[in-house]
Amino acid sequence: MKSFRWRTSVLAFAVCVMVFVPTAAQSQEREEDTVIAASLTAMLRASRTVVSRHQALINDPAIGDKGLTGKKVLAEALVVYQETTRTDPKSIASGSRHGRLFRAQQEAIVEVIDANQASINQAGVGFKGFIPSTFARLLNEAFAKRTGSEAIVKVTAPEALIRNRKSRPDDWEAAIIRDKLLRPDWPKGQMVTELSASQGRSAFRFAAPEYYAPSCLSCHGAPKGQIDITGYPKEGASEGDLGGVISVTLFRR
Ligand code: HEC
Repeated sequence: MKSFRWRTSVLAFAVCVMVFVPTAAQSQEREEDTVIAASLTAMLRASRTVVSRHQALINDPAIGDKGLTGKKVLAEALVVYQETTRTDPKSIASGSRHGRLFRAQQEAIVEVIDANQASINQAGVGFKGFIPSTFARLLNEAFAKRTGSEAIVKVTAPEALIRNRKSRPDDWEAAIIRDKLLRPDWPKGQMVTELSASQGRSAFRFAAPEYYAPSCLSCHGAPKGQIDITGYPKEGASEGDLGGVISVTLFRR
């Protein structure tokens, strides 16, 4: 009787461990997912930074061919990526999942910049609507075309701030924004990772907050409702407000 009870409790303990403690392989996969999501986020930000640095050139009506090719933007973005992550992009093994997704994102950067050459190089027109926010959405769409069944990168925002309906938060993103990122005591810049579902599939999900900088406020700042240069009403936001969220989904096989 005694040994029976002992065996039962060992069994119960084993079941608990199996249910509640992730196996080493599971924790390793989650760690790898976090590295990949952070890396795709860093590269999205890096390429957006490059577009931003060239905004005055892009908007210059006096210059036709600006030489701002996909290849050039990618090369500059890789430098920014290395500076911000302190990771040499060449150290990411090309055959790995990280390497494949990183490569697909780089191809998407080149594709979007090259596809917009006619607009970027249009002489006689100042503001052409080619701005970092739009570039980021186009990049994420081009990336999804390559990897949609495996990975999605998206820039979304609190529902009340959404300009482009395509960027609306899904249920998971809306809950994370409401319950975590918008909380006054949420540590600035802290990301969220969770195993959850997306489109009915099990997925690793990652959300990194983005805050308005002074440079954002010519479009997203005050006075609320005034039409900005892009034709949208301004949100009336202030520097430091949560302006957006980079959301990365990595589907589990
Ligand atoms: C020149 C005006 C302009 C500036 C400056 C600007 N944005 Fe935007 N932003 C837009 C427009 C237009 C869109 C919609 C882009 C699209 O989907 O094509 C947008 C979209 C976004 C989105 C995606 C969600 C949505 O509303 O569709 C986020 C997040 C965002 N902006 C944050 C920022 C942040 C943060 C900055 C500063 C670093 C910034 N923006 C600077 C005009 C601007």
